[in-house]
Amino acid sequence: SGYITLDSGFKNTGATKSAITFLDGEKGILKYRGYSIEDLAEKASFLEVAYLLIYGELPTKAQVENFQNQINKHTLVHEDMKKFFDGFPSKSHPMGQLSSLVCSLSAFYPESLNPNQSKEEQELTIIKLLAKMTTIVSWIYKKSLGHPVNYPQNRLDYVTNFMSMTFSYTTEEYEVDPVVIDAMNKLLILHADHEQNCSTSTVRIVGSSDCNLYASISAGISALWGPLHGGANQAVIEMLEKIKEDGGDVEKWVAKAKDKNDPFRLMGFGHRVYKNFDPRAKIIKKACDDVLAKMGINDPVLDIAKKLEAVALNDPYFVERKLYPNVDFYSGILYRAFGFPTEMFTVLFALGRLPGWIAQWKEMKENREPIGRPRQIYVGEKDREYIPLENR
Ligand code: CMC
Repeated sequence: SGYITLDSGFKNTGATKSAITFLDGEKGILKYRGYSIEDLAEKASFLEVAYLLIYGELPTKAQVENFQNQINKHTLVHEDMKKFFDGFPSKSHPMGQLSSLVCSLSAFYPESLNPNQSKEEQELTIIKLLAKMTTIVSWIYKKSLGHPVNYPQNRLDYVTNFMSMTFSYTTEEYEVDPVVIDAMNKLLILHADHEQNCSTSTVRIVGSSDCNLYASISAGISALWGPLHGGANQAVIEMLEKIKEDGGDVEKWVAKAKDKNDPFRLMGFGHRVYKNFDPRAKIIKKACDDVLAKMGINDPVLDIAKKLEAVALNDPYFVERKLYPNVDFYSGILYRAFGFPTEMFTVLFALGRLPGWIAQWKEMKENREPIGRPRQIYVGEKDREYIPLENR
């Protein structure tokens, strides 16, 4: 009751206090638990960063080994889950599958349903999700090809195991390319958390009703799917391909993006919070150059992306609105260099964002936050009298 402030899209409303991720959009600064994203992307492994986000401190060598061992105990998914894969049409979008499969973990592990889990039970629920996610994602990819799935190899580290399950035809034959594993670690780290974005806010708000971790994260996956959020990485490559097929005239497409009568937007451009540059995009752009060179790949789409960026950044429309390339602008070029099909890109974003979602859900519970329940300003009809059907 009383005075309600309207803030569509929550542009200026803080929904929580958080000690996980610091973001200064004006200066282009991003830090996880006080560590700069540049440092972490350069020096850490994805699992170290996951540990940091979830538990608040960088792990010792023993702690990260123990974390990896705990995860390894749970990388298998229940064989009955394979029936879901059988049920999905082979062309169904991987994000729809991922959201359903993650939610279904709550059915296989009903102990997750207890909102008052002990610390140890909550820990196990978290470990199971981190562990099974790689298997689920790789199986989604295998399903899209109609290939048999591979099982996890627990002697491998988190990222190598994922890439091996995904890209080998048989469980043993994957040739580990350290350049690819390094770049994949980097990409996952850069996606690992981003404070109160659309999907993370979704995870927190769903979780605030005391909903279990798996269902809360499944809701976050759905939020991420949209092309204005994580789905942008798929949309970027589709856009760049279209521009290429259209003859590579980037000026024409920039003009289209500026035209207010045209719904087209430059995908991978603009951000709600970054108004200077997106530090993640900077790192990924450089990684694109380095990694593609090391892999001996010459992707014409990378040239189009760079041209497009240069033209847009010199255009008053983009300058005035402070629109810069975001994390999704260059990431897809790397994903496809590794061999992922376009439709898998947003799933890879989800794999990277998973520790962040978990950390945010856990923090929301530890802070005993109240149920999320925004208010509204009602603008509908006032009092109306019911008219019987035959008189309408
Ligand atoms: N192309 C053309 N114009 C744009 C773009 C774009 N990509 N982004 C924003 N604008 C314009 C927009 O039309 C508006 O113009 P005006 O003031 O004349 O009406 C102005 O810039 C402000 O945009 P907004 O939509 O009010 O800003 P927002 O904070 O609500 O939206 C955004 C942010 C990221 C949704 C938006 O920039 C966008 O749609 N970008 C393209 C999709 C994309 O790349 N999304 C990924 C975001 S980063 C990673 C992630 O979240 O997953």
